[in-house]
Amino acid sequence: MSKREHINEKGHFLFGGWDTVELAGRFGTPLYVLSEEKIRERCRAVRSTFLNRWENVFAVYAGKAFLPLAMCKIVQSEGLGLDLVSGGELYTALAAGFPPENTFFHGNGKTKEELRFALSSGVGRIVVDGMSELETLEEEAAAAGKQPAILFRVTPGVDAHTHKYILTGHTGSKFGFPLAGDSLKEAVRRACASERLRLKGFHFHIGSQIFENTSHVMAVEIMTQTMAGFKRELGFVTEELNMGGGYGVEFAPDGETPRIDSFTDAMMRALEEKCRTAGIPRPRVIIEPGRWIVSEAGITLYTVQAMKTIDGIVTYASVDGGMTDNPRPSLYGAKYWAVAAGKMDQEATATVTVAGRCCESGDILIENLKTPPLERGDPLAVLNTGAYTFSMASNYNRLPRPAVVLVSEGKADVIVARQSYEDLLRGEVLPDHLR
Ligand code: LLP
Repeated sequence: MSKREHINEKGHFLFGGWDTVELAGRFGTPLYVLSEEKIRERCRAVRSTFLNRWENVFAVYAGKAFLPLAMCKIVQSEGLGLDLVSGGELYTALAAGFPPENTFFHGNGKTKEELRFALSSGVGRIVVDGMSELETLEEEAAAAGKQPAILFRVTPGVDAHTHKYILTGHTGSKFGFPLAGDSLKEAVRRACASERLRLKGFHFHIGSQIFENTSHVMAVEIMTQTMAGFKRELGFVTEELNMGGGYGVEFAPDGETPRIDSFTDAMMRALEEKCRTAGIPRPRVIIEPGRWIVSEAGITLYTVQAMKTIDGIVTYASVDGGMTDNPRPSLYGAKYWAVAAGKMDQEATATVTVAGRCCESGDILIENLKTPPLERGDPLAVLNTGAYTFSMASNYNRLPRPAVVLVSEGKADVIVARQSYEDLLRGEVLPDHLR
């Protein structure tokens, strides 16, 4: 981040064209702030470097990263589809008026009700995760009189360099059909024979927050061999290959996020070449970026509530949020960076550890942040929090969830209201004998 671009004459941090100190004052903290322009810039980069560069391709945004109604609308207006992974995400997309035919319905533990919901709402593809789901789906499709188009999720057996909790494509993963053994072949055979199911092809997603394209390319090569094998042995021609997401973003202030085409170009070239040598048609390709689209388009504003120095050891700045609005540091050891939003013109002479407010020693948002000296009441902006924060938030310690504000030129709109204490009690019932 170049500092000058983001600082106004008052020495305040600017985000999406807005004075963040003003936003904190107007909407309160903690506050998620998303920049519409930044989201659209990333969607447009997907268009110019992938959709316009290759024929017969499509891109869907992985809604699990961040999916309020407003996000569905932005994604739709940019011409991308949606990757959905639960009835709740599907419900949200439909409520936003998102065209169901442009959605992919994922998940390794879809319930019958969710499959029925997906069938009745006409999702574009159901991505079948395993044999049991295939059986359930066949039954449900027959009962509903539908013929869903499906993909099989495959674990190509590659290890990507990322945290093990967000690694998904290795052998032994809970996701998808393993390539070892015959289960995938059996499933292909069964789907081809079924009057109910229209098998279009395969899906893989090898993990998340990945910086180098080697594992993605390896997965493409393995999948091409697999597709060629099915053509040879079963006469099944793959029409579609969904290559998932996983493209990383840089959290360090001096680092750079890789361009998305550093992945997609390499994967597409490998796919075209391998298909040519294997003598199979290159299938339609779909990608599913989540984090890459929305992470850097978001920040979280907090207010420093208390300072505490333990001599010679550490200085804590405790803020009014923490693992409830951003569980990623405590869950994955994720590293974030923050700026003192009202002190951008001051020297970073202090080192503080930004502590979340939850009753957990592990609720630390950032260790050893270099910052101008902080005081109670200072607004703090944690950067790069657009993905997997709001969507993973909880009410631990009965903390209400922050509001989400969408900023665009001249506008700052609340797209998700801050929860109230009453919201916390919604749905709670006291049984008669406890009244
Ligand atoms: N497609 C599928 C089938 C996925 O499972 C995922 C993410 C994506 C696409 C999008 O991946 P992305 O482009 O965002 O890396 N909560 C974790 C990330 C979990 C990702 C799960 N699947 C985190 O905060 O790092």
